[in-house]
Amino acid sequence: MSMASFKNASIAVVGGAGFVGSNLVKLLLKEQPREVVVIDNLLSSDVANVPSDSRVKFCFASITSDAGLAALPQEVEYVFHLSCYHGNQSSIADPFADHENNTLTSLRLFDRLKDFGSLKKVVYAAAACAVAEKTYDAPSATTEDQPVSLVHDSPYSISKLIGELYGNYYHQRYDLPFVKARFSNVFGPGEILGAGRWRGTVHTVWRNVTPTFIWKSLHREALPLDNGGNASRDFIFVEDMARGLMACALRGEPGGIYNLATGRETSILELATWINEFTGNPTPPDLKPARDWDRSGKRFASTEKSRNELGFEAQFEVREGLRRTVEWTRAHRDLIARTMAAHAKQMQQAGAPLPAEYLPASA
Ligand SMILES: NC(=O)c1ccc[n+]([C@@H]2O[C@H](COP(=O)([O-])OP(=O)(O)OC[C@H]3O[C@@H](n4cnc5c(N)ncnc54)[C@H](O)[C@@H]3O)[C@@H](O)[C@H]2O)c1
Repeated sequence: MSMASFKNASIAVVGGAGFVGSNLVKLLLKEQPREVVVIDNLLSSDVANVPSDSRVKFCFASITSDAGLAALPQEVEYVFHLSCYHGNQSSIADPFADHENNTLTSLRLFDRLKDFGSLKKVVYAAAACAVAEKTYDAPSATTEDQPVSLVHDSPYSISKLIGELYGNYYHQRYDLPFVKARFSNVFGPGEILGAGRWRGTVHTVWRNVTPTFIWKSLHREALPLDNGGNASRDFIFVEDMARGLMACALRGEPGGIYNLATGRETSILELATWINEFTGNPTPPDLKPARDWDRSGKRFASTEKSRNELGFEAQFEVREGLRRTVEWTRAHRDLIARTMAAHAKQMQQAGAPLPAEYLPASA
């Protein structure tokens, strides 16, 4: 049996200008594909992330539009669906925009792909946060078959699950070779603060905890630790995540689901401590009390199935990943300051108040 590979393959990455998508595109290019088509409306990303390479074709469109769908190559073999309406707070601010860019996207894409005879695999970015139990006690590893609650904190979380449901449906009904990659928390180079359009709250500037902490830490600010930084996550370095997605495409069982994670818990306090160490930030973290509505909790994912069935294991320690991410942030200060400033302008134009902490201290 010949081993599947991306050599000479036609690949599409929907949401490929984004943080994870652009890292995936860069890694795919090393596998000698024929072409990598990136379809993205730059809602939460910057075009700077799309590599200039003759094999990369960038289509600036929503995958819900005819132009976006038409950009899918006739002979496409692998499709990675990474587009979403980023993230939880934005979806709460505008559930309809979330629906348009996080639910309809999956339906439109899968419905179109059911007619492509050339397809080998469609990999979907599913979210572990939509299934993990919310606990502050000692958590157990979340497995792929964890029961899913029908009660969710955000439209984002609902949309991520609906993507799984539609994919399962198209797999069952039309044999779409659909594979779900359940993401834990990804961090690493290429996550640009403020990238894209303002989506209703200041969270659209800050995105996730890791890039926010790194930026504040580089500016000698005190890192805010709710509940003393007691919450934990399974943080995976983006290059590992990209390799995991490629393993899902080459070796995932159609209809299958795989956690992509490290299987290890890192507390937010540890994360902050390591980041401050790498940036040399002398300002101690700002330890805040527990809030009674805090549901963030502790969690990590089981890696047993992806190790056994995909042969996938994360290679980077969180510390090493953070060191590289701090380096990348230092080297891209100007780009990040520019996207944050563009965001501030959009907020001001919309009449939204700018929190003092939003304005980056001079770098
Ligand atoms: N980063 C994480 O920790 C994490 C965790 C769980 C799941 N995920 C999932 O992984 C995927 C990638 O996440 P990310 O962190 O790279 O986010 P991102 O915001 O950087 O990437 C999402 C991309 O989708 C694009 N997009 C939005 N609407 C679109 C549309 N209608 N048509 C085409 N493109 C559209 C955005 O412009 C952006 O480039 C998402 O599906 C996300 O839900 C990420």
